[in-house]
Amino acid sequence: MKVLVTGASGYLGGRLCHALLRHGHVVRAFVRRSSDISCLPPVGGGDDGALELAYGDVTEYRAVLAACDGCQVVFHVAALVEPWLADPSRFLSVNVGGLKNVLQAVKETKTVEKLIYTSSFFALGSTDGYVADESQIHPEKFFCTEYERSKVVADKIALQAAVEGSPIVVVYPGVIYGPGKVTAGNIVARMLIERFNGRLPGYVGYGNDKCSFSHVDDVVEGQMAAMNKGRLGERYLLTGENASFKLVFDLAAVITGTKKPWFNIPMWVIDVYGWASVLFARITGNLPLISPPAVQVLRHQWAYSCEKAKVELGYNPRSLKEGLAEVLAWLKTLGSIHY
Ligand SMILES: NC(=O)c1ccc[n+]([C@@H]2O[C@H](COP(=O)([O-])OP(=O)(O)OC[C@H]3O[C@@H](n4cnc5c(N)ncnc54)[C@H](OP(=O)(O)O)[C@@H]3O)[C@@H](O)[C@H]2O)c1
Repeated sequence: MKVLVTGASGYLGGRLCHALLRHGHVVRAFVRRSSDISCLPPVGGGDDGALELAYGDVTEYRAVLAACDGCQVVFHVAALVEPWLADPSRFLSVNVGGLKNVLQAVKETKTVEKLIYTSSFFALGSTDGYVADESQIHPEKFFCTEYERSKVVADKIALQAAVEGSPIVVVYPGVIYGPGKVTAGNIVARMLIERFNGRLPGYVGYGNDKCSFSHVDDVVEGQMAAMNKGRLGERYLLTGENASFKLVFDLAAVITGTKKPWFNIPMWVIDVYGWASVLFARITGNLPLISPPAVQVLRHQWAYSCEKAKVELGYNPRSLKEGLAEVLAWLKTLGSIHY
């Protein structure tokens, strides 16, 4: 099949392109002229299928429409994935405006049979004290980040489009981790690099946070299963083990035979650090690793069940320990961490 992937130059989109090519599909990667496409195989070749490029921005309708031409499947993966941006209006224009353009282009392109839209666990909302499934609707009372707000707005548009007949399947990964491009979306790799280079000596908070950790290759398998088996208009959580970042650091210490952190950094200290980082970011233009909205995320729990995807898609996420062992070995090979 000919498959369009938006966000192909990103962490998840890049891995998805490789997997689709391995399965013999022709992949059209939608990238910007400014995109770093080093994570993609060479144009025309690559693994088993063939890769072609389509240039454009998801906010430009004509470019999206042209990219859809002749494709049977569209994976809309592109998004601005940051907890904080100096100009927060960009989240809505890219994450919501981009989806609207993709939906319209899919409608106009007669060859497209299925659209797999990559949403996020944030679109379902926090789950303080319980584990949620696909039936949870975001209460929209409070958003930790403008990114979360944009994913919620986009989710409603995606589900409404399904009601109106769009051939859409929506997938919701958890916190994605695993080998691949170290973008803002690869937060676990970035935190492990900080931890193993001595810049993050303690635990972040007291381990009351909870996230669902999804290995990037499990998410890719889930996206492809959604293409093959996903029912139109359905939501599928592609999540994994529900755990705290404290457990991530503990497992990393056990796997590498290194010492666990011996103290907890209180959230208020991380908050102060976040405010300082944002101030610094406003001056330098370099985006912060920790910001006050990111701290808000850590003050909540985001635990989900992927039972529906297991049953319907054959989704089979690996354990966090297994996934982390792979990430740590990969970061060591890159020379990003030493142990
Ligand atoms: N990372 C996670 O933990 C996580 C968790 C749940 C859901 N998700 C979702 O998964 C998807 C991929 O995330 P990721 O972690 O792979 O993020 P990423 O590494 O930051 O990749 C984002 C991709 O979107 C592209 N993009 C951004 N703005 C664009 C625009 N205006 N026009 C065209 N392309 C644009 C980027 O292109 P450039 O290379 O040119 O910047 C990049 O290819 C997103 O939809 C995200 O919401 C991620």
